[in-house]
Amino acid sequence: MTDNIPQLIGVSDSIRQLHEELKQAGRSDAKVIITGESGVGKEVAARLVHRYSARQARPFCAINCGGVPDSLLESELFGHVRGSFTGAYRDKPGLIEQAHGGTLFMDEVGEMSQRMQTMLLRFLENGEIQRVGAERRTASVNVRVIAATNRVLLDRIAANAFREDLYYRLNVIHLVLAPLRARRDDIEPLLRYFVQKFCEQYRLTPPEISREALDALIAYDWPGNVRELKNVVERFIVRGRGDVIMPQDLPAVGGAVRTTTTAAPAPVATPAPVLGFPVSRPSSGQSTSAELFDRIVNRGESFWSAVYEPFMTRDLTRADVRVVVTAGLQQTRGNYKMLVEFFNMAPQDYKRFLNFLRKHQCHMPFQQFRSSEMLRAEPEPQVAAVV
Ligand SMILES: Nc1ncnc2c1ncn2[C@@H]1O[C@H](COP(=O)(O)OP(=O)(O)O)[C@@H](O)[C@H]1O
Ligand SMILES: [Mg+2]
Repeated sequence: MTDNIPQLIGVSDSIRQLHEELKQAGRSDAKVIITGESGVGKEVAARLVHRYSARQARPFCAINCGGVPDSLLESELFGHVRGSFTGAYRDKPGLIEQAHGGTLFMDEVGEMSQRMQTMLLRFLENGEIQRVGAERRTASVNVRVIAATNRVLLDRIAANAFREDLYYRLNVIHLVLAPLRARRDDIEPLLRYFVQKFCEQYRLTPPEISREALDALIAYDWPGNVRELKNVVERFIVRGRGDVIMPQDLPAVGGAVRTTTTAAPAPVATPAPVLGFPVSRPSSGQSTSAELFDRIVNRGESFWSAVYEPFMTRDLTRADVRVVVTAGLQQTRGNYKMLVEFFNMAPQDYKRFLNFLRKHQCHMPFQQFRSSEMLRAEPEPQVAAVV
């Protein structure tokens, strides 16, 4: 929920036009729906609409509606009263109330259950909310709703998975974000921006970028879009030693790069390569650890929804969690603080994350990741010794 200044870097026509649309959207209070693939910048766009609006001094609250069980989502959105469920020790206002006067950003809205869709629709119709366990409705709140999804909602409607009436409620202003491979002009400015940003953050001197590396980056299809680019840069900066970025420093991109330099965008998203992932396990129908790692690192899901939730509901084993954490630590050279950001958690989640790992014996000693070249170590034997 941090309200730092959002940056929309890019020089393509598509980004310029979007910028105009964001300003325009800021002038009204109309509901907005933002669509586009994962990692294209939907949340950045939502923050900018808020920033350009008269609500900018009021809160911007964001919630991810995907992968969250109904009961949790309901209490997060609408709040709850003390004693309404185990662990509800005190009354808690929901995000809708917290966003009063400001903007509520609902990400992955296409993933909501029918029940939650109905509750959201009711709120949008009358602005009233009822905390979980409360007897009465709370006074109505004034919140601007911006929703986002990487789904094609019309397809979801056709499949009876999304309410048509809710869709039309949300779809007053529709902003579409193009995938990065359809606006390759933005790759270089984004690259330079992220290099600068991470070098400042880690107090390192920015490396040069060789022509060859730049060409490889521009030719790559970026299935995970800007988020993937950002992660590639961060990983390089964290691990890198050279003064010049060469193509061989970018295995993620080089490994999957199209060698043709045709500028024609490939319309089909190729599955994101699972970068630097040390193990592969046969798929058992459930997500393998490698897939989980990919969802977090390349598709921007947070550790909480991709790993923590399924672990708590026993859909994942302790060994799965350890493998994901180990893979992350290999990228951050054993740095847990960095891992928090790398796994898309808020910095203030650091303590909670460590407590969780310790409690479930998934906390790995960082020293093993600091060895000279960090050859892809087999994670299992080392973690087995940890108590
Ligand atoms: N045009 C852009 N300029 C700068 N950063 C961007 C841009 N687009 C995306 N990002 C960054 O990439 C990451 C993914 O963006 P996000 O808005 O969360 O994507 P989405 O919500 O579409 O999955 C974020 O860290 C965001 O700050
Ligand atoms: Mg998002």
